[in-house]
Amino acid sequence: MSVKKAVLSALKSNPGNYISGEELSNSMNVSRTAVWKAISSLRKDGYNINAVTNKGYLLKDGDCTIDADALRNALPARYQNVELHIHDTLDSTNTYAKQLALEGAPHGSIVIAEHQTNGRGRLGRTFFSPRSGLYISIVIKPDFDLSQSVLVTSAAAVAVVNALNTVCSVDAGIKWVNDIYVKGKKVCGILSEGLTNFESGQIDSIIIGIGINTSVDGFPDDLLDIAGAVEGDYSRSALVANVIAETLDLMSSISNRAFMPAYKEKSLVIGKTVTVYNGKYKTSPEEDLPSRQARVLDIDDNGGLVVLYTDGSKEVLTSGEISVRL
Ligand code: BTN
Repeated sequence: MSVKKAVLSALKSNPGNYISGEELSNSMNVSRTAVWKAISSLRKDGYNINAVTNKGYLLKDGDCTIDADALRNALPARYQNVELHIHDTLDSTNTYAKQLALEGAPHGSIVIAEHQTNGRGRLGRTFFSPRSGLYISIVIKPDFDLSQSVLVTSAAAVAVVNALNTVCSVDAGIKWVNDIYVKGKKVCGILSEGLTNFESGQIDSIIIGIGINTSVDGFPDDLLDIAGAVEGDYSRSALVANVIAETLDLMSSISNRAFMPAYKEKSLVIGKTVTVYNGKYKTSPEEDLPSRQARVLDIDDNGGLVVLYTDGSKEVLTSGEISVRL
């Protein structure tokens, strides 16, 4: 365990109490300078740590790991003015961002929570959102043709893969449509939702919701079969900043599909045999649904999955569910 992680763990296991720098350095067998460096790095990540002479360090309540200043510092200059809404707990960052968008929040507004009480996934599912994860929603005011809004999720998937690579040195892949996998386990899900303007009948905002597992501690056993986490010694603020910047950058490549080669390159399903569930979405592994085996030939320019069934027929799937052994 790194000094930074060990310091954080010591502070967390002493809620409300100060621990002296000496005690920390002795228990970890590292120098006082190393402890001090770990504390300042944790502060940069947004941890609110009090330091009092002759008492030591205390992790303050509501220990948000992302704070606005740390995040803004980590964002590139072109996104310095985005609106940041950082919360400890929300029911769902997407629901909150939708409300902000209805109230006129500008393009690029960001909602972040450390914890969601009603995290939402695709197909009406819940998204398990314990305190250890990262929950981000981004308000997009589309400047592209609305028939292309389905591609927003695919572009966001590429953005997350790029950010995980840059910040966490992790090689992630994309399971169509929008699940991010590392070493065979899902570490991130993406839910994009459109807000329709009733007068014009057009979508005037898209909310991109991104949930990243950064630990699987406390995950129920049934989720542990598929869920993984991006663990390691990286800055959470840097990861969030990178995800935001990559996502906003890629929004300008929706019309020209410039992100598509990267999406395909990171696809975990092209060339694989998958099970396609027809007619109805599969909601639980026990549910017995009509299904067909198919080989994935390609992903087309609209993000559709081009599959070849065993009877030789082809289909382009535009949404729904496939399962595949990864
Ligand atoms: C899925 O895997 O089905 C998509 C999960 C999307 C979860 C994210 S977490 C941030 C945002 N807020 C939500 O309620 N959902 C999305």
